[in-house]
Amino acid sequence: MAPRAVRSKERLKVLAVVLAAGKGTRMRSSLPKVLHELRGKPLLGYVLDAIRNAGIKRTVVVVGYGEKQVRSFLKTDRLQIVRQWPPKGTGHAVLCAEKYLRHWKGLVLVMPGDAPLVTAESLKAMLKAHQFQKASATVLTAHVKEPHGYGRIIRRAGQVAGIREELDATSAERRIHEINSGIYLFDAEELMSHVRSLKAANQKKEYYLTDTIALLAHSGQQVAGYQTNDAMEVLGINSRQELSQIEKAMNQNEIVKHQKNGVTIISPENTFIAKGVKIGRDTVIYPFTWIEKSVRIGERCQIGPFSAIRQGTQIEKGATVGSFVELVRSRIGKQSRVKHLTYLGDAVVGADVNIGAGTVTANYDGKGKHQTHIRQKAFIGSNTVLVAPVTVGERAKTGAGAVVLSGSRIGKGQTVAGVPAKPIQRGKRKK
Ligand code: UD1
Ligand code: MG
Repeated sequence: MAPRAVRSKERLKVLAVVLAAGKGTRMRSSLPKVLHELRGKPLLGYVLDAIRNAGIKRTVVVVGYGEKQVRSFLKTDRLQIVRQWPPKGTGHAVLCAEKYLRHWKGLVLVMPGDAPLVTAESLKAMLKAHQFQKASATVLTAHVKEPHGYGRIIRRAGQVAGIREELDATSAERRIHEINSGIYLFDAEELMSHVRSLKAANQKKEYYLTDTIALLAHSGQQVAGYQTNDAMEVLGINSRQELSQIEKAMNQNEIVKHQKNGVTIISPENTFIAKGVKIGRDTVIYPFTWIEKSVRIGERCQIGPFSAIRQGTQIEKGATVGSFVELVRSRIGKQSRVKHLTYLGDAVVGADVNIGAGTVTANYDGKGKHQTHIRQKAFIGSNTVLVAPVTVGERAKTGAGAVVLSGSRIGKGQTVAGVPAKPIQRGKRKK
């Protein structure tokens, strides 16, 4: 067999170990840190996705604090889970995965469960660098303006010689701006032999995985540092402040994508758009608008201010929604207007419909959700309550304050008014 082919086979042999047993003391939470959500997805979910997208098929997750909750999140994934209790540091966490690592002939990727921004591309690039340098270990590092809180990379003659945690660092070491991401590649055998000899000789009295780097370097092994260009990627989340900073950064990335596609967003700081939302050209999003995943908005719409466009909603070309409107699982037809103080849930609204101020679909009866159909060119009077299921026919009207009872079908062109709403003709109300 050609040596090249052997090398490319070896390249695939990577076992990932995700450290997710820590409490996350700085979060001050009863929820384990790795389950805190960013844009609706737990931190741990991002890490596992990056690993999977980098083509790594075997993953061991180390769980401990909040074990039950973390296990139930992991349930759907094909993963190996090991327990670390009590958590005695990142080195001790790796040791808890010993039964999978002991016989592993290949590479081990160690990832913290609290670094959600790292991409599969960076993991792949790091893997390449590791193999190219024939290193025993590679540390993913970054040069950051604010290194506070991170382990610092100690280099000697350009080579990585160790990692010093902030609490144990001298003031000179604290001035180092190259930080440890907490993401490493190790040769499995080297990792195991050094992780067993770790000592908890530090301020926190923990077994630090970071100490294996100095141990490897001292024993003459080649330790590489792979520095990412995007320092943002390696940010670890340790506090609620850091969580909100990353949430903000991710939201801004999403907003910039829409701006580049021709959407006007008046106040990016006060607009929240989930990943994967589609918005057509020349639509204007006014401030304080919250748009959830799977929403689709057409061209030349006006959305907000102060509106929540929730999951499963579709707004067609030229429609106006807001201010103070909440839509969920609803479709708003072309040129329709839902302008003020309205809640539409499970509603299918045709084209050119006017929804008056204060309209409410009562879509939930305590047991199930029901639909409201409002056909084209209908006119819903202010403060109408539509107790679903209801159908309002084409060009039909409801009077202000009407309560349209469940099961009603308002015919084409018909007008209803009152409580409960009844048909009226030529301005008179039918008794
Ligand atoms: C760690 C690194 C630091 C690095 C930073 C990057 C160590 C000693 N320090 O610090 O050099 O700059 O990450 O974000 O490794 N965990 C366990 N078991 C434990 C302790 C932690 O599973 O006993 C898990 C945590 O759940 C977390 C990850 O390991 O997902 C990292 O732990 P954390 O306490 O956040 O370490 P940092 O102080 O951020
Ligand atoms: Mg951390």
